Amino acid sequence: MIHTQIAKAIAKTLDYVLSEEEVYSLLETPKHSHLGDVAFPCFTLAKLGKKSPAIIANEIKETLKSVWIHSIEVAGAYVNIFVNQDLSANHILNQVLTEKSQYGSKPSTGEKVLIDYSSPNIAKPFSMGHLRSTVIGHSLSHLSEKNGYDVVRINHIGDWGTQFGKLIVAYQLWGEKSLIEKEPIKELLKLYVHFHEEAKKDDALNNQARAAFKALENGDEECLALWKWFREESLKEFETIYQLLGITFDAYTGEAFYNDKMAQVVSELQDKHLLTLSQGAYVVELEDMPPCLITKKDGATLYATRDVTAALYRHQTYQPKKTFYVVGHEQSLHFQQVFHVLNKMGYEWANRLEHVAFGMMLKDGSKMSTRKGKIVLLADVLAEAIETAKRNMNDKNASLLDKELVAKQVGVGAIIFNDLKNLRTHDLEFSIDQMMSFEGDTGPYVQYTFARISTILEKGQYQPKESTFHSLGEQAWPIIKLLDQFPSLAEKSFDQADPSQIAKYSLLLARSFNKYYAHTKILVEDNQKQTKLAFSYAVSLVLKECLRLLGIAAPTKM
Ligand code: ARG
Repeated sequence: MIHTQIAKAIAKTLDYVLSEEEVYSLLETPKHSHLGDVAFPCFTLAKLGKKSPAIIANEIKETLKSVWIHSIEVAGAYVNIFVNQDLSANHILNQVLTEKSQYGSKPSTGEKVLIDYSSPNIAKPFSMGHLRSTVIGHSLSHLSEKNGYDVVRINHIGDWGTQFGKLIVAYQLWGEKSLIEKEPIKELLKLYVHFHEEAKKDDALNNQARAAFKALENGDEECLALWKWFREESLKEFETIYQLLGITFDAYTGEAFYNDKMAQVVSELQDKHLLTLSQGAYVVELEDMPPCLITKKDGATLYATRDVTAALYRHQTYQPKKTFYVVGHEQSLHFQQVFHVLNKMGYEWANRLEHVAFGMMLKDGSKMSTRKGKIVLLADVLAEAIETAKRNMNDKNASLLDKELVAKQVGVGAIIFNDLKNLRTHDLEFSIDQMMSFEGDTGPYVQYTFARISTILEKGQYQPKESTFHSLGEQAWPIIKLLDQFPSLAEKSFDQADPSQIAKYSLLLARSFNKYYAHTKILVEDNQKQTKLAFSYAVSLVLKECLRLLGIAAPTKM
């Protein structure tokens, strides 16, 4: 809001040599607040008018007038502007108080954003990479809605491939129904590992597995029933994780869903003369990257074939304005290839597909793997975080009601926040102790600040209403400026598919509020009490909205 008003005033003073939007994009925030709230650099104007930037800055200082401006100073090429604090505070805070969780929300565009995320593989443990995808995708879905889009959430589960031939054979030889029903993924994984050990000794097993997969592909009833059962049991187990994280999907259309849809795509590629025969396999040749494999020698389709088919199907079914694939950066080449193939097929919408890549989860500097040896089970990690939260709570607030629920919200919130506070392309260090701290750059810290404000509001018996704000004090002004930035931040984090901006902002806001609170007595009976409460409430509304956008609960007590 502040930048918009200042841009308006400057553009007018300049007789619209630069448009409001142009001025807006040039505005900066001075490094130190004693230099001003907003700075306008005059280099661009100097080039246009062939005058020195300093002269122009002084001219602007003389003519610039607006109710939103308190005073102006010139420093070299910069016009430094001090904003009318009371007027801005009233405007900004009342906007937050009226719009509440809608503050910063855009009106509906009527368009769709499709997000392909989580996407674990059936009969295998939910890996740390899948957790990252789940958490980032979930936050992106909230950011998309905040920016006026309808969201289609798709779980592209890995439920097809030759490994199911192996599993079927292994189950028929060594499997036990009741064990699988108890702990499906653990047992299926065991069978899978056992199969590999045995197949090393006896190659005939590999042939059997190939035959079983072929039978599965041909719709053999017994194989199909087993596959369906493995799939359902695995999904049930994944569901407990989704429930804990508060996540739902619109579709679980995984790889198998496209089995009957690929032949048509392969013949379309053929008709468009895009397929080249290469050692018996069919590929699409691509510029500047390896060719994309479409069918193998034996006619079998591949991961990429299914992704090309899925993109076409989704385009027809949902017509998304944008599609995000939230998948680790080790699959970058795969998505480049898929997008290029679609491009070569003549689909301009392929430019609106985006691979939202992310780095690896590290523990003590090395990759956290779900493979043999170093098995880190997500369920265990979540349980440990929740346990730690409970212990911390017993220390801090032993009389807390709902301790179980709050411990869950804090433990899970800590894991999510730890993931989202970093630039997603970076690798990520996983340390339960660090992410659980109430004092560091953590989820619990932001949640704790929100709960603290909620307690203040309760003690002060605050009733939400519009207020008149004046002289809130020096400590409040930086917070008001932060609140003012929230709408453009929500927009930017969506445009850049980057929830870390929201996480970092929430830390900044929480820290500034705690600083304010350390200097200001809110609950004393003076004539400012209601104003201070209303101000605190506004901060809590935005903090809560940040947490919601990240996919984290905001308990009012902890
Ligand atoms: N199941 C895949 C894996 O675990 C991820 C799928 C990502 N989405 C996609 N459309 N390819 O590696």
